[in-house]
Amino acid sequence: MPKTIPTISKKEFLRRREQLMSQMEPNSIVILPSSTEKIRNRDADYRFRQDSDFFYLSGFAEPESVLVLVPGREHGEFILFCRERDRAREIWDGYRSGPDGACKDFQADDAFPIADIDDILPGLIEGRERVYYSMGRDQQFDQQVMGWVNAIRSQVRAGATPPGEFLNLDHLLHDQRLFKRASEVHIMKKAAQISADAHCAAMQICEPGMYEYELEAELMHRFMRAGSRAAAYNSIVGSGDNACILHYVENTRQMKSGDLVLIDAGCELEHYASDITRTFPVSGKFSKEQKAIYQLVLDAQAAAIDAVKPGNHWNEPHEVSVKVITEGLVKLGLLKGDIDTLIEEEKYKQFYMHKIGHWLGMDVHDVGDYKIEGQWRMLEPGMVMTVEPGIYIAPDDETVAKKWRGIGVRIEDDVLITKTGYDILSIDVPKSVDEIEALMSA
Ligand code: GLY
Ligand code: MN
Ligand code: MN
Repeated sequence: MPKTIPTISKKEFLRRREQLMSQMEPNSIVILPSSTEKIRNRDADYRFRQDSDFFYLSGFAEPESVLVLVPGREHGEFILFCRERDRAREIWDGYRSGPDGACKDFQADDAFPIADIDDILPGLIEGRERVYYSMGRDQQFDQQVMGWVNAIRSQVRAGATPPGEFLNLDHLLHDQRLFKRASEVHIMKKAAQISADAHCAAMQICEPGMYEYELEAELMHRFMRAGSRAAAYNSIVGSGDNACILHYVENTRQMKSGDLVLIDAGCELEHYASDITRTFPVSGKFSKEQKAIYQLVLDAQAAAIDAVKPGNHWNEPHEVSVKVITEGLVKLGLLKGDIDTLIEEEKYKQFYMHKIGHWLGMDVHDVGDYKIEGQWRMLEPGMVMTVEPGIYIAPDDETVAKKWRGIGVRIEDDVLITKTGYDILSIDVPKSVDEIEALMSA
């Protein structure tokens, strides 16, 4: 059966380029290199993943490419440099679009072999006052860009005009990427559904004696058979004390009855990430202490999600979660003292040491500023963020009673900000104590 995986249309890629160009200063040029292939060991590469900015503007997923936008250029504004077609290389390594394919299939107005870039790009830069380029991401490419500018400078006496200003492309482009349009939300919703299904499956197959990697395998199986080509980040499957290691990815421990297991995993679909965390008992039944901590994290998450709406600023959901968690920890006897003082002195950080979440999009920790001119940014419709409070009681924390030690809980959902509030994209994984216990016993 063919899969129906939503994609970004050519029209949408064009709209994105036009939106960016409409924001640019007059007489300027964008230069954006693709990702490079990375060696894993000796002759084996990591699976290639296109740079998110590059894919966002082009839909072109090949390495060794450079995207150039020249607003107002008579012979076309969108130029791609890419690998030439090569029969031998294609037999070994796979299909290449070549410059013709870049024009025909990716709407480039002009396309050239990447091998010719040193000859052609200085001519495109020459006469432009400003270059939009993200300096410092790729040293080798930085030097190449400087080489092109210097080539123009050396021709000044012959009448050439070098650019006078470099501008950070990230400012414009990342603010654009922060606001998701319907087509992107559609893909992100699908990605979250696939991940939700995978989390449910992991809960259903989990039993004492299994290894953490068996749950990881189930997640990857569910992701990939649904059309995802990779996890959006390394899956975290931390059982027992490992749940207290925020980015634990070894996933090698054998799970025991009485453990909690924390799974933080999400698929990537069409270059969009999902990012879900659930924590559940390996045996299917929470202990009294586990249930108390779990319920507190869940209450904090619910309160934080309620604070996700236009008109609130970025940090409000975090502040709400801090309040709920601090109050709860005092009630349970894990913290002692006046609530306001504990919050002011950040005593909760002994157990809740990270922020409520992050922007989510093509990158799991997506682009976009959190502050504007020193102030927390206001939440606006179209932004997507994670809401992921947690409580982690270190196994060797002698300041708390033994019964609490080694309990780690995080609950994470992907939340779209709408005109009136929010929409939880990852709604399809249960998270109440009763729902989880019911699913695991079914
Ligand atoms: N999965 C990484 C994070 O939740 O930020
Ligand atoms: Mn996560
Ligand atoms: Mn996250």
